[in-house]
Amino acid sequence: MPLTTSKEMFAKAYDGGYAVGAFNVNNMETIQGIVEAGVECRSPLILQVSNGARKYAKMVYLKKLVEAAVEDSGLPICLHLDHGDSFELCKQCVDDGFTSVMIDASKLPFDQNIELSKKVAEYAHARGVVVEAELGTLAGVEEHVSNKYGCFTNPDEVEEFVSKTGVDSLAIAIGTSHGAFKFKGEAKLRFDILEEVSERLPGFPIVLHGSSSVPQEYVQMINEFGGAMPGAIGVPEDQLRQAARLAVCKINIDSDLRLAMTGTIRKYLAEHPAEFDPRKYLGPARENIKQLVKHKIVDVLGCDGKA
Ligand code: G3H
Ligand code: 13P
Ligand code: ZN
Repeated sequence: MPLTTSKEMFAKAYDGGYAVGAFNVNNMETIQGIVEAGVECRSPLILQVSNGARKYAKMVYLKKLVEAAVEDSGLPICLHLDHGDSFELCKQCVDDGFTSVMIDASKLPFDQNIELSKKVAEYAHARGVVVEAELGTLAGVEEHVSNKYGCFTNPDEVEEFVSKTGVDSLAIAIGTSHGAFKFKGEAKLRFDILEEVSERLPGFPIVLHGSSSVPQEYVQMINEFGGAMPGAIGVPEDQLRQAARLAVCKINIDSDLRLAMTGTIRKYLAEHPAEFDPRKYLGPARENIKQLVKHKIVDVLGCDGKA
């Protein structure tokens, strides 16, 4: 089976009241851990690559690893560009064989976001590639407060945005943010905004970025074995499960994978100071990524058995 787009994945997820996990990848062990989890849970997968990941690993290597994952697993796998910030980058990824790209023009004024997202959608669609765009700003809620929604997505804008751009899915801002320090006060998502958006866009797939839950098990492991991440906190899993039952069809997870890998490696090296074979610590890191992703698939996303 070749790489697939997310079109069919999202249609099934919307109707089935679950979401597909979009996991960021940079290296072989992370890809293998995610894919082994996907195989055991018979789950569709989105493997996403940021521009930083492209630069770190080189696309030629990542592409081959993702193709190997498809061949090895037989799962429906979508290769997605995460946070493309220009037409040129999105075009490059379409030309490189990605099946999905994100154009993130959310920092631009509304009209310019529409113009750029539309241009990417036209190029991608002509080549069978689907497009995610974003409206609203994830972090810095106190900045640029221009209306009653602040930096959250304004539901009054979504119909015009989707109809004018022709994009296939929309990332919205309802209180999530990137990284491992997500909330200063109460960890609570704006379900009222999600519901208003989905009323205006019936059947349309919504995406949540910044959706790591920052497992305290790994925060403690990191802090115990030489790290310093006091106060790290993520999105409560029950709220993500609730979002997945509604219109959210794609949930982005990167930080949790980083925490599992870093915590495992810190612990292993602290307990085996004389060990210098990277396979000895990358192996357990891969295993813990697999267990983490299985937990996400079954208990948070609800996409087990859907491949
Ligand atoms: O949303 C950003 C992702 O976590 C990717 O991060 O740009 O450091 O690869 P990165
Ligand atoms: P986290 O930092 O919460 O894992 O978010 C990742 C993400 O949104 C990638 O686009
Ligand atoms: Zn993101």
